[in-house]
Amino acid sequence: MMHRPIGVLDSGVGGISVLRELVALMPNENYIFYGDSYNAPYGTKSLEEVQRLTCAAAEHLVNRGAKALVVACNTATSAAINILRGRYPDIPVIGIEPALKPAVLASAHPRVLVMATPMTLREEKFHQLLEAHRTEAEIVSLPCPGLMEFVERGELQGEALENFLMDLLTEYREHPVDCVVLGCTHYPFVKNTIRKVLGEQVRIFDGGAGTARETRRRLEECGLRNTSAAQGKIWIENSLHAPKTVALCRQLLDFS
Ligand code: DGL
Repeated sequence: MMHRPIGVLDSGVGGISVLRELVALMPNENYIFYGDSYNAPYGTKSLEEVQRLTCAAAEHLVNRGAKALVVACNTATSAAINILRGRYPDIPVIGIEPALKPAVLASAHPRVLVMATPMTLREEKFHQLLEAHRTEAEIVSLPCPGLMEFVERGELQGEALENFLMDLLTEYREHPVDCVVLGCTHYPFVKNTIRKVLGEQVRIFDGGAGTARETRRRLEECGLRNTSAAQGKIWIENSLHAPKTVALCRQLLDFS
């Protein structure tokens, strides 16, 4: 059982930002990553649609022998994590949420901008998170439809991306924030341009490393950690079945 892979899923290539943290923390584990780029984006679809797609992706990974599931997508987590936990009570199912906690603790009552998909910001899970931290910071939420598509295309820098972010972030260039929370797993790959647009002083947080630590904790708790000392394998699958998309995932895995 412990040699079986950890299944990691996302609506596309963004979940690689979580996979790279998992690999950094647990290099001896085997991983199977499934990106549903064919159906991306999830963040602008209906709740029912995202629940259906997330369940299908999870089922695929469980059928491929996953010993645990990491939902490396904030949107899919907010839509379907409870359904998945109900369906797979015997394996750890770990989700991701916007890393609001470290951001609000970054300084005294900071102004924090949360960038995420429309669905993540609309769902109950995020409202609970906001409620938990509302007295500690001034929190502003910004839905970013259209941003994940740059990452899906492998467009991680350049004029078009910069112009898109300039428009999207106009308000926060005029009225600066102290911290930015990247509440979508695609966004860490455009972090440099976000910083360029908002200024060097801004502190940027994402939930990848925290999710990796939580995954390790859950695996240990269930006695599922791989004890092999050898470097694990990483399988990458994508619903587009395009070699180009798999190559982009490999490139993102080495992104720094
Ligand atoms: N990567 C997904 C997330 O973390 C969102 C991208 C999408 O809209 O499909 O929310």
